[in-house]
Amino acid sequence: MISVFGSKVGKEEIENVNECMMSQWMGFGKIVNKFEQEFSKKFQLNNFLMVDSGSNALFMAVKLLNLPAGSEVILPSYTWVSCAQAIVMANLKPIFCDVDLNTMNVRVSDIERSITKETSAIMVVDYAGLPVKIDEISQLGYPIIEDAAHAVFSRYKGSACGSLADIAIYSFDAVKNLTVGEGGGITTKDEKLIKRASKLRYCGIGKSGFDSATTQDKNQSKWWEYNIEETFIKMLPTNIAGSIGLAQLKKIDILQSRRKEIWDAYQNEFKHVNWIENPVDAENGDRHSYFTYCIRVPERDRLANFLLENGIYTTLRYHPLHLNPIYKSTDLYLKNSEVLNKRGLNIPLHPRLTDADVNKVIQKIKSFNI
Ligand SMILES: Cc1ncc(COP(=O)(O)O)c(C=O)c1O
Repeated sequence: MISVFGSKVGKEEIENVNECMMSQWMGFGKIVNKFEQEFSKKFQLNNFLMVDSGSNALFMAVKLLNLPAGSEVILPSYTWVSCAQAIVMANLKPIFCDVDLNTMNVRVSDIERSITKETSAIMVVDYAGLPVKIDEISQLGYPIIEDAAHAVFSRYKGSACGSLADIAIYSFDAVKNLTVGEGGGITTKDEKLIKRASKLRYCGIGKSGFDSATTQDKNQSKWWEYNIEETFIKMLPTNIAGSIGLAQLKKIDILQSRRKEIWDAYQNEFKHVNWIENPVDAENGDRHSYFTYCIRVPERDRLANFLLENGIYTTLRYHPLHLNPIYKSTDLYLKNSEVLNKRGLNIPLHPRLTDADVNKVIQKIKSFNI
């Protein structure tokens, strides 16, 4: 079966993990710090912290903004469930908006329709790694949380996706462009916020006795004591995850060029097929991350089943949140998200695909009897 998503690890990741295990310290530690430094350097981020998942990073991001309880956060319906759950868990109200059909990203006009007196923030997503127009959305004057889970390699107007928002998150889960198994990250230019994030990820503990003892802080003779400054859950990543991340970071350019090759092959082949609508690439000067390739087709379900019978697994990302029973609201109609729900299909795109796999996907789709 050809899988729809995937990552690629090799001997470098195995060697790093091995070294970490031999050190007998697999939990949070120096290797995480090294990954954070290298990641910041590679993508020119002012501040970057690793946490244990992109989903938790979203919750942390929402909490860091200290938004008024019960206020509204606008987000696309066409996104992963963690976006809305982070908002609900922070005692805020998710307000779903539509996306553009071609980019699958939110536009200012989609957001504007949902603004009320209660709006306190906006959450945007770089779908598949296509940069959202964050400068235009910033003009609305609300704090922005950017979900750059798919956009680790993306650039918008010369800056890394994530670096232009008030707070942004990345995901390093098992199928993301840069994987550590499960993991995530958070970035913000605001020094105060990143300091607070660093405290929050360790149960809201401010100064720990361990830090005092190891830095020989003379003011703390009882180094086993610690200050709990805020109530928060633990989101520490492990040195094992950091080790994998360091190896992935060294090869991210190669992994990305393979993703781009596959994306380009699909674009070149499908532009001649009149029943397929292709996703759009980044604008000139910007950079896409090619996390996934979502086509729009009539007879989507029949095509998905035909491909499955032929050993090709496909899926739909995302089932719009406003249609999900937990969030369902009968008076909300989001036209483009609902079109995507009926016609969208994510086809295989990841660096482990061989040329033969890619060819098979192309040929099978072209042979489909529409
Ligand atoms: C858009 C988006 N945001 C957030 C996440 C959550 O990331 P994680 O799986 O690391 O929790 C995902 C995961 O697929 C995602 O697609």
